[in-house]
This record gives sequence, C-alpha cells and structure tokens, in this order.
Amino acid sequence: MRIIRLYYPKDHELILAGDVHRGSILSDKEGFVSCIDYVLKEANRRLILMGDLQDSRPSDHRYFDLSEVEEGGISIPEIQFNEVRDTLIPAADRIDVALFGNHEWDLRRTGNWTNRLVEELKKESGRDDIYYGTMSCVVEIHDKDDPEILLYKIFLHHGTFISLRSQAKDFEQQQGNKKARFKLLLRELASDCVIMAAGHTHQDIIVPPTGQLYLYHENFKVRQAYLHQGINERYIDPNQRWYANTGAFLLRSTEKLGYDGLPISGYPERRGYWPLVRAFTSVEVANGVIQDVKSKRIGEF
Ligand SMILES: [Fe+2]
Repeated sequence: MRIIRLYYPKDHELILAGDVHRGSILSDKEGFVSCIDYVLKEANRRLILMGDLQDSRPSDHRYFDLSEVEEGGISIPEIQFNEVRDTLIPAADRIDVALFGNHEWDLRRTGNWTNRLVEELKKESGRDDIYYGTMSCVVEIHDKDDPEILLYKIFLHHGTFISLRSQAKDFEQQQGNKKARFKLLLRELASDCVIMAAGHTHQDIIVPPTGQLYLYHENFKVRQAYLHQGINERYIDPNQRWYANTGAFLLRSTEKLGYDGLPISGYPERRGYWPLVRAFTSVEVANGVIQDVKSKRIGEF
C-alpha cells in the first residue's frame, strides 16, 4: 500500500489500463498498443498501469499450459518483461504509477518485476516521479498550477480478490448484481476517494455516483434536491463515488497455433467464458472537476 501524490493540470484525462498478460498466446498486443497510442494522442493524457502486464506463469504453476505459451519462448519472464517494457517506453513520459497484479506476484521469488519496470521507465524518461504502486494505492491528484489544491483522490487495487458473477437471468439484473458486488468489495478500502478502481476481472463495469433525490424541510415547506457530495471529504458516501473495473487486453480465442503447433482451447474457452471485453478506463477532468469515468473499448474510439 502506498500513498502517492501527482500534480496534473486542471484539464486532464487519466487512463487506467492493465491485465495485458503478455506471454499468453491470447494477449491482445495490438489492443494494448492502441491504448498506448490513445494516451500519446493528446498532451494532457496520463497513464496508470493496473498490473498483470506479464502473464508470468512459471512452468510449475498449476494453470501453466504449454499450448498457451506464445512462440519464441515467451513463457520466460525476462522475455515477457522486455516486451512489456519496449511497448511502454514510447509512453514513459506519461506513465505515473505501476501496480503489480497477481501474475507478477506469482514471480516474486525471482524478483520484483513491476518495480524493475518502473526503474527502467524512469531511466528511459529521465524522470524520478514514476511510482511503484505496490498492489494497492491511494493517488492524490493535486493542481499542477496550485500544488496545495487537492483535486480528488483515487483508490487503486489490482483487484485480485474480486470475482464478478451473477446468476440472474436478465442482462440488466446481471449488471446490477455485478455493480453492487463490485461496490461492496471496494467501498470499505478507502472512504475518502471519489474514484475506486480495480482490474483483474477482465470486465469493464463502471458505476457512477447515484446523485439520488432526497427530501428535506425548510420554512415549513417540503423540498427536494439531488444529492451532491463534496469529493474531498474524509468520508464520501459510498453511493456518491465512482467505481471502475478497468477491463483487459485478452482474447477469448485465437487462430494462432500453440507452442506444440496445434490449434488451442485457451482457458476462457475451456471454462465457457462469455465474450471478453477489451477495454481500459478513462477519467475525464475539466477545470479540476471530474466530468465522467468511462470504459474505452478497443475498436470503438
Ligand atoms: Fe489479475
């Protein structure tokens, strides 16, 4: 756990992206590159990495599957790391934080690959303000022009503990159940963060503040108003925060042949997963105020 302070202009867009799983034959490298290109397209876009950038499945891992290993020996952590780093170097000036995911954690006996990534990005960009975010952190965004001014706080966790499923039969009920569960799992982990974000599930669920109506009484009259809460309070009502599940860059299936030269049935197919979204999260801020938190789906921006 870390607490990190960043200084952004009042107008900015913060991108949260992770779950790239480089090294798996199902990793969507082109999708991730299009995310990096998106970040680079506008000068005010910043990037935070949510973990699971490397697939990092050592051959003694119970989920290791030789057929899902990409050609060229990319099951080797060093090769996966080099590829992730080389993909990210063009955006080194824009990356502020990198979290580790459960897949990097699986490699902990061989070193801290996420911190190594941060150190190499720092070296590459000549910056010293790129942060190793551990598995969860609070990021305080301050106004670059007036560094004392806090714009908002965001809580980030890779999301290892989160599983979102619903037995509901209706699509809207399923979404509702997943949203409620996502909020429940995150809400107590930080009370002063107006955005609570996590990856890991490979879904791109976004829950906005409810802004619900309430009744009050003034001058012997019943009045109503929409609930708006200050975003820099010590305790922000859990219903008045944004929640973002930050998507992934993983294909459900591929025509590529596995390491053994045979067609593959990867784990999403074997387990009967539904179609997998490929997406990242965008936080849009104008004049220091959060305007929107949305999912950007690959191929749709
Ligand atoms: Fe994960």
